[in-house]
Amino acid sequence: HRFWLVVPAAGIGQRMQSAVPKQYLTLADRFLLDVTLSRLLAACAWEGCVVPLHPEDRWWRHSESAADGRIETCAGGAERVDSVIAALRHLEGRAGDQDWVLVHDVARPCVHRSDLHRLRNELAPDSVGGLLAAPVSDTVKQVAPGSDRVSGTADRRQLWRAFTPQMFRYGDLLPALETGAREHAGAITDEASAMELAGWRPRVVAGRTDNIKITVPEDLALAEFILARQDA
Ligand code: C5P
Repeated sequence: HRFWLVVPAAGIGQRMQSAVPKQYLTLADRFLLDVTLSRLLAACAWEGCVVPLHPEDRWWRHSESAADGRIETCAGGAERVDSVIAALRHLEGRAGDQDWVLVHDVARPCVHRSDLHRLRNELAPDSVGGLLAAPVSDTVKQVAPGSDRVSGTADRRQLWRAFTPQMFRYGDLLPALETGAREHAGAITDEASAMELAGWRPRVVAGRTDNIKITVPEDLALAEFILARQDA
């Protein structure tokens, strides 16, 4: 099996209330992006690694990752899905249709090597692919936008939280994302949602719940705590 790695890092991090995009905020004295990329690259062998960046990114050249010869960059797009499509297009002619692509958000620096290995090993024989995920532990309420009244409660037994990495075949993922971006604008928030809309049934692989996504500034302190405890 051949495995490629795509790490979208072209966001501007609007929810971080910061002039610096979140991938360049400091986590344990390094750029968040450097923590995530070095963990992914150290965990297993990759055919190649592509990082889509914002066209006006001014920080990348100051990162440790910029000096890592295993990493290639390309220009990202307006939405996450556009950035992932750009990275896959960047691999055109090199990645085969049957090759696996793992897509991992740069904003999830705590991804553990054991989860990466489990995802790759469990899904490699699969016909579709899938994602790291965890059953929800909270009760989830349905509330219409603009309202503060609950209209319903989802059946928790059927709900999982979707993490990354998400792993699909190059030849399936690229057309699914391109069709999804064109026909379901706004609804493609991860690779699996595009695959689902294309008629596939991605598999969930139970992942560690400390694989958190950095969304608000407070999450950085939590990630630092998690990383220190994982190393201990
Ligand atoms: O903002 P959010 O956390 O949802 O972004 C998820 C991931 O997608 C981040 O790694 C971010 O850098 C990336 N992204 C991107 N291109 C965009 C928007 C987000 O690569 N246009």
